[in-house]
Amino acid sequence: MIVSGRASQRLATALAAATDLPLAPTTYEQFPDGEHLVTVDFTGDHAVIIASTTTADRHIELLQLQDAVRETGATVTTVIPYMGYARQDTVFEPGQPVSARAVARAISTGTDRVLVVNPHQPTVCEYFDGPAVPVDAAGRLADPLPRNLTDPVFLGPDEGAIQIAESVKNAYDAGTTDYFTKTRLSGTDVQIAPSDTDVGGRDVVVVDDIISTGGTICEAVSVLHDRGADRVYAAAVHPVLAGNALVRLFRAGVEEVYGTDTLERAIPTATVAPVIAEHLKQP
Ligand code: R5P
Repeated sequence: MIVSGRASQRLATALAAATDLPLAPTTYEQFPDGEHLVTVDFTGDHAVIIASTTTADRHIELLQLQDAVRETGATVTTVIPYMGYARQDTVFEPGQPVSARAVARAISTGTDRVLVVNPHQPTVCEYFDGPAVPVDAAGRLADPLPRNLTDPVFLGPDEGAIQIAESVKNAYDAGTTDYFTKTRLSGTDVQIAPSDTDVGGRDVVVVDDIISTGGTICEAVSVLHDRGADRVYAAAVHPVLAGNALVRLFRAGVEEVYGTDTLERAIPTATVAPVIAEHLKQP
């Protein structure tokens, strides 16, 4: 059975269709003191629990789902479409935790295997105690893009995004890839140094693993327009879109913002369900 966390209901439904597995009836409740309770009507030998850990509450809920399924004696595969705290993957200042490791350890206690969709760094999977692998679903971002892009450039706003740009270009089956160099100035602002690629008159899709505040993409879009790019689109596997990110992006001149269903957002999305379904077939 597929068991869904509250933040992954649409994707869980798509995964049930892609795998032909039933979707377990699940209810989510909250007590007056703010604590959550999840109830799952699970039957079977193996559960695929799929839950984006978007907040601390959703993280606790995943642990509850794992515990409820384990209580029946079933084995568990945990799929984390969007792993919260994954960007805190090292000690940045003395005295700080490796938050990604802390949450990975907790999740490890209730599962036999873990799949993480496009973690910020694939090495985050090493923080889980058991088998854990990254799932690259970036190619799915090609699906909702317009088919009539002119000589497209798939551009990573920093070097770390070049692999995602390659995946999207290959899936789109046209265009070229490139990347800019990014320096982060604060939590919301970055500085971008462009490459030498001539983007004049070309359509550009800026692709990243995450759009959080939108600061990175907005800066890239400004540079692209200065350099004569035609239409500029934004696409990210994980459309976090914190606060006013969408307004920032559209005010910066982005034609459209695309994402996947690792997070449920009101933008055009592609489902990552087929990619997860393929990984589930592997032992
Ligand atoms: C950082 O390296 C990530 O790949 C993203 O570029 C970053 O998280 C995007 O954040 P924001 O939208 O706040 O600029």
